[in-house]
Formats: sequence, C-alpha cells, structure tokens
Amino acid sequence: MNRIGTQRIETERLILRPFAMEDAEAMFRNWASDPLVTEYLTWEPHRTVEDTRGIISLWISEYEKGDFFNWAIELKGEAGPIGSIGVVSVDDRVDAAEIGYCMSRALWGRGLMSEALRAVIDYLFDKAGMNRVAARHDARNPKSGRVMRKAGMTYEGTLRQTGKSNAGICDLVYYAILSADRKK
Ligand SMILES: CC(C)(COP(=O)(O)OP(=O)(O)OC[C@H]1O[C@@H](n2cnc3c(N)ncnc32)[C@H](O)[C@@H]1OP(=O)(O)O)[C@@H](O)C(=O)NCCC(=O)NCCS
Repeated sequence: MNRIGTQRIETERLILRPFAMEDAEAMFRNWASDPLVTEYLTWEPHRTVEDTRGIISLWISEYEKGDFFNWAIELKGEAGPIGSIGVVSVDDRVDAAEIGYCMSRALWGRGLMSEALRAVIDYLFDKAGMNRVAARHDARNPKSGRVMRKAGMTYEGTLRQTGKSNAGICDLVYYAILSADRKK
C-alpha cells in the first residue's frame, strides 16, 4: 500500500476532498442528523452540531496518517459537503480496504454515490496500491448493494445476523473488487 492519504479527486459532477472544520454545519444539516440516512449505519444520528465538530476534528488529526482515507463529497459549483465516502478499515498485510459512504437524502437516486465510489475505487487501486476493495451493507438496505454493483464490485456472500445497525441485528451482504478483476 502507498501511504498517500486523502487527496483531492475530481469526477464529472463531483469534487472529493478532505473535510475541514467549516464543513460541520453542512454535514450536520445535510446528512449526519438525519435518522433516515443513518437507519442502516452503525453510528447514531448526531444530536447537535457539536457532535459533528467532534468527529470532523478527529478526522482532521487522522489526515496526517498516510493510511487514512476519508473524503467530503461536494457537487461541482456548489459549496459545502453533501456526503462522505471513506475507508473504514485497512488490512495492510494484504493491501485491502473496506469502504463506507453516506449522502444527503435530498440527492439520493441521481447516481452520485456510484460516481463517487467508482472514483474512490480507482484511487485506491491506481494511486494507493490496493489489491482488494470491499464494502458491505445491511441486507435491508439493497440500494447500497446496487451502488456497489454499479461501481464494478462482485457479490461475495451474506453472513447471517453478524452485524448490528441502527435497525437492529442484521445480515451483512459483502461485495468486493480485486485489482485483477479490473484487467478482465
Ligand atoms: C446508499 C446511498 C449512498 C445511495 O446513494 P445514491 O446516490 O442515491 O445511489 P445511486 O443513485 O448511485 O444508486 C442507487 C441505486 O439503487 C437503486 N435502488 C433504489 N431503491 C432500491 C431498492 N429498494 N432495492 C434495490 N435497488 C434500489 C436505484 O434505482 C439506483 O440504481 P439504478 O441507478 O440502477 O436505478 C444513499 O441512499 C445513502 O446515503 N443512504 C444512507 C446511508 C447508507 O445506507 N450508506 C450505505 C451503507 S452500506
């Protein structure tokens, strides 16, 4: 793995860039306080913008590490983050990363997260030198699986009642893409 950390990425409609403290209000308002966004996630919705400031401040300190990847997603031409996408775990031994993401409800269904995920997958393979990029979702959230498939990931299996989201104990559905898959 190349320890290059979170660098700016540009796609057709999006800018992916590191979070800054000034993002707290928009992040709180756009997705972090929304119980429908966090329904199938492992963290609870933020109660106040102070919760959001706390997590952003932690991320900013983590940006010093080359193996910390976490982007704020912005629409081109519009200031302020609309979502986030990042690596939730890295296994250095096998150059593997697992990705998580979430976005403002107002913007669901426009293919934006698939676009962001494709760009992050390219970055992790081509720049960060990963060999495997994985993601998983609560089985009750099939929309997220659709995003993974649209980004080129392959379904690997479901582990029954192995996770817990805000909706309770859940089956976890696993997807991944390997460096070798992209050459096919
Ligand atoms: C999951 C999430 C990121 C999707 O973002 P998005 O930008 O709306 O996703 P896209 O528009 O790229 O793709 C969504 C796809 O799911 C499909 N979809 C919608 N509802 C669905 C359902 N119930 N079952 C299966 N597919 C569904 C859409 O039709 C679309 O596919 P299409 O382009 O082939 O029509 C967004 O809904 C979100 O932030 N959810 C809350 C947080 C979350 O669940 N994160 C993932 C945790 S694993």
